Amino acid sequence: MKIAIGADHGGFELKQTLIPFLQGRDIEVLDAGTYSTESVDYPTYAEAVALLVVNGEADAGIVICGTGIGISIAANKVPGIRAALVTSPAMATLAKQHNNANVLALGGRILAQEVAEACVAAWLDASFEGERHLRRLDKISAIETNHHCR
Ligand code: RB5
Repeated sequence: MKIAIGADHGGFELKQTLIPFLQGRDIEVLDAGTYSTESVDYPTYAEAVALLVVNGEADAGIVICGTGIGISIAANKVPGIRAALVTSPAMATLAKQHNNANVLALGGRILAQEVAEACVAAWLDASFEGERHLRRLDKISAIETNHHCR
């Protein structure tokens, strides 16, 4: 499995700890930056990760900014992306089971490292439940089509 990961300066430190965490689970990591704590703009990294996912170069993505809010909003602008901002393992599990989130968004200034790792593990270990949830995802895709995103 390949995961693309990207962060702004507010998420840089958490990204650096999540990379070996993912590799420890035999996951190949594509690091889309940023590569230091120098101030940058989160939409750049949201779009980079989102494109790796929708173009099939990564199976899924993780985006991190200070709160996770801005970078999740930006990632969700790319058609086909379902980025879920989570703050607990329970939310991360449901983000996969119900929303089939293909991008997980985290707040580097919000979550302790252990909680962030537990969120990532919960998201990776969960499976999409389909059925009524698939109907709802189809309606999300229809919103993209209706607004000429695709
Ligand atoms: C950057 O200071 C901060 O605004 C950003 O990391 C994020 O929290 C935005 O939503």
